[in-house]
Amino acid sequence: MNIIWHERSKQFHLYNDFISYVMHVQPDGRLGQLYYGAKIHDKEDMTYLANYRMMPLTAYADIDVLYSADLNLQEYPDGGRDDFGTPAFRIFDEDGSGISGFCYVNHTITEGKKELPGLPATYASVGECMSLEIELFDALSNVAIRLLYSVFRDYPVITRSVTFENRGDKKVVLDRALSLSLDLPAADYEWMQFSGAWARERRPVTKKLKSGITAIESRRGHSSPHQNPFVIIKRPETGEESGEAMGFSFVYSGNFLAQAQVNANDRLRFAMGIHPETFSWQLAAGESFVTPEVVMARSDKGLGALSRTFHDLYNAHLVRGQWKGKERPILLNNWEATFMDFDEEAILKIAGKAAEAGAELFVLDDGWFGARDDDRRGLGDWIANPKKLPGGIKGLAEKVEAMGLKFGLWIEPEMVNPDSDLYRKHPDYALAVPGRKPSLGRWQMVLDYSRKEVVDAIHDMLYAVLKDAPVSYIKWDMNRSITECFSNEKKPEEQGKVYHQYILGMYSLYERLREEFPKILFESCSSGGGRFDAGMLYYAPQAWCSDNTDGQDRLQIQYGSSYGYPISSIGAHVSAIPNQQTGRSVPIEMRANVAMFGAFGYELDLNHISAEEFETVKEQIRFVKEHRALLQYGDFYRLRDPFYHDQAAWMVVSKDKKQAVLAVFTITANVNRIADRLQLSGLDPDRIYQAGESRYYGDELMHVGIAMREECIPGYTTEQDHSSAVLVLESVE
Ligand code: DGJ
Repeated sequence: MNIIWHERSKQFHLYNDFISYVMHVQPDGRLGQLYYGAKIHDKEDMTYLANYRMMPLTAYADIDVLYSADLNLQEYPDGGRDDFGTPAFRIFDEDGSGISGFCYVNHTITEGKKELPGLPATYASVGECMSLEIELFDALSNVAIRLLYSVFRDYPVITRSVTFENRGDKKVVLDRALSLSLDLPAADYEWMQFSGAWARERRPVTKKLKSGITAIESRRGHSSPHQNPFVIIKRPETGEESGEAMGFSFVYSGNFLAQAQVNANDRLRFAMGIHPETFSWQLAAGESFVTPEVVMARSDKGLGALSRTFHDLYNAHLVRGQWKGKERPILLNNWEATFMDFDEEAILKIAGKAAEAGAELFVLDDGWFGARDDDRRGLGDWIANPKKLPGGIKGLAEKVEAMGLKFGLWIEPEMVNPDSDLYRKHPDYALAVPGRKPSLGRWQMVLDYSRKEVVDAIHDMLYAVLKDAPVSYIKWDMNRSITECFSNEKKPEEQGKVYHQYILGMYSLYERLREEFPKILFESCSSGGGRFDAGMLYYAPQAWCSDNTDGQDRLQIQYGSSYGYPISSIGAHVSAIPNQQTGRSVPIEMRANVAMFGAFGYELDLNHISAEEFETVKEQIRFVKEHRALLQYGDFYRLRDPFYHDQAAWMVVSKDKKQAVLAVFTITANVNRIADRLQLSGLDPDRIYQAGESRYYGDELMHVGIAMREECIPGYTTEQDHSSAVLVLESVE
């Protein structure tokens, strides 16, 4: 790993053992891109890659050099001048022009990586990472831009963020401030996005990148289940095991834009950042603005390796606190068992059975507070309902702990029902435009987290609940998108800040509670997986993946989530059948075999299953406890894609390759067919593995494959809907 500055050619080279990133100062002082790709030797001068020539309909910043930003790869492009592509930023000063001319001034190279104030970001210590800060300055507006790059030693990863600093004495307006713009010579590239909706989150969608714009976005105030802030750019031939792929992950949980633009000169411009259309930031004299971080990773060995880079990086350099790298407790959540209709006795009965089965944590979901007997009321009143819980949360939690379980609690702290004491007392705490009827979602409004006093008020209520009750886990929900994003307390020119300030307020509450209760394991949630992004993982190491707990649909949802997010972060539960969302009845074996590749738990009343099934549950819990470290932190390989096959398969392999767990699933039966072979991955070719009754060489399993039938995979058949099995592979000496 190194960052080199070539003074004579004015070129930067960031590299590690895997990747190189080369930039240069162009003839007019702007920063240009030269190369991003596999590691190459360092070279003094690569100006030959620039494109200084005369072309029709081109505007030239320097006609003598024939330099045009439109014909060259830019590092952080401005707008309104000779580059007709999408700008990375727009700054309007008092003359209203929105034109800037930022030139390279200086740079610093440091060891390690700085924090981004108030924002989630990857972290690394000296020796693990090097950082480069390049300062650009525009003399007319007196604004400085600092481009921040960090290159990791052990991962094919560079992170990026940008700081704007108003050094003048007049205000400017930042109308667009993306975190990353990356110009590449357009080749035959494909774009992969992860799209969906409630109950069908993060489905991979692949498109060809051709002339014009391809984009995804969220304007919903949360990253959303509709589009995930994670994009892969890859070659058409790139598959799981081979080929070039670049992944871009936005470490942010609010409105975003991710866009690729291929121009007529075959320049591919990828950009990612806060959505410019819901953002306008007035920067007063002396003020700064810092963008969230984008993590860019690269792979020459296919999508599987790209995903494993994100998994390992996020487990080691994004997740923080006591739960970092730790096996996640097996929980039982009462939501699908009772919804809001419960009292202490009913809860203790469910928790007691969970304890008997071997679960480690009981989670009390929605309905414990205020007048919350249905979803029309109560949000905002974070005081336990004495009719349901006479001893409050403390009383219940202590009883649950006495059963040998930890206790967890659901909250939805960003919301308020109009029918709540909080709203009756402070109607101005909700985001709304005075005089206009607010849009409701699930009968609730969104609290104005851009205001500190609102965040403080919620904090104080939650603190009072948590300070003396033994709460070990919090599920933090967020069940509607933001509308009428108008803050009652702000001046007109500050309204463009509210969406982003909301996110900063939400992060600040997470941070405060994390610091006050460092032992609590946080799980984020947004109507299932509506805020499953890298930003949240900095505060909550796991996320409820989807409200769709159907074992078959979960194959797709978890498969799609695994492209960008670690298995340890994917909250996955076994629920009752027929499934609440799909009506489907998937056997308990398959429900668990899917869910155990995640932060595993149950979401049903175990008193209501048969004695035989209860024994199965006990065995599942025993199995997960035995193999949990491998299931949650092993190298994950996607083997068979549930979107395109009537079967699915994936596996995890330990870092030392001595152990693996394979899981195979039949989605729909395929009768009267010769069982095919499933080629495994990630094993040591020279080791011998015991798998069930058989022994195989690693290379045999990877090149020949394992036969997809009962004799080789006990308990599995392709001839029956929802047959599934997990097979442990142990290396024998
Ligand atoms: C949505 C979540 O995704 C569910 O798991 C549950 O917590 C409900 N909200 C409760 O209102």
